[in-house]
Amino acid sequence: MKVVLLGPPGAGKGTQAMRIAKEYQLAHISTGDIFRQNLRENTELGKLAKSYMDQGQLVPDDVTIAMVLDRLQKDDCQNGYLLDGFPRTVAQAKAFDETTKIDVALDIEAPDELLVRRIAGRRMCSCGATYHVDWLNGKTTCDVCGKELYQRDDDREETVYKRLMVYKEQTAPLIDHYAQAGVLKSVDGAQDVEKVYEEIKKVLDGIA
Ligand code: AP5
Repeated sequence: MKVVLLGPPGAGKGTQAMRIAKEYQLAHISTGDIFRQNLRENTELGKLAKSYMDQGQLVPDDVTIAMVLDRLQKDDCQNGYLLDGFPRTVAQAKAFDETTKIDVALDIEAPDELLVRRIAGRRMCSCGATYHVDWLNGKTTCDVCGKELYQRDDDREETVYKRLMVYKEQTAPLIDHYAQAGVLKSVDGAQDVEKVYEEIKKVLDGIA
């Protein structure tokens, strides 16, 4: 199964991706996580990505497309994968269409005020796990691997509004793109995490 997760920043793509990847045994490919990993390792790609991410802008298409197409060649992708955060522009989607036919594009929807609240309280672990301060009860380490949690640099309020604007201008058009391709399914991301996941499961079980 080849799945694309669409949705604005804070909609819950990463949160749901962890669950989907585990249950359906799919490789979870998050372009944001790959860029952040490169940033931690201080690679040239990481330095380049940071200059865009900190401004709430997208990393250039040519860099991102080459990175993802290369990642999809790895063995763990041969039985299916879940793309979280790619494609994110029409140019990325078109380049990807030339190489692959996906089974479903899952669009997780949520209103702006909820997105801003979620992002402001988000805490991350370098292993990819995502939390929200409302559920942490003061805990500062990851339940999965025990590492210290941190707040993303691009989760500052002014950057969040920029990211939402960039999403509307550059990524939202992909909803039409995948609707026209006949593979779009939308889920209501404003519900509890478990409810959102139930909706997603219904969609995925229908195509598995
Ligand atoms: P990326 O890391 O992909 O960030 P994003 O798309 O902005 O999405 P987020 O990670 O902010 O949100 P999410 O939907 O995953 O929500 P989450 O599950 O964490 O990209 C970062 C940057 O990298 C981009 O701005 C860009 O610069 C660059 N980049 C990445 N991909 C690129 C590409 N293809 N092309 C170019 N540049 C690219 O949830 C958010 C919070 O809400 C968490 O605290 C979570 O615990 C909580 N939460 C989640 N679901 C629920 C729920 N149902 N109820 C209550 N709380 C919830």
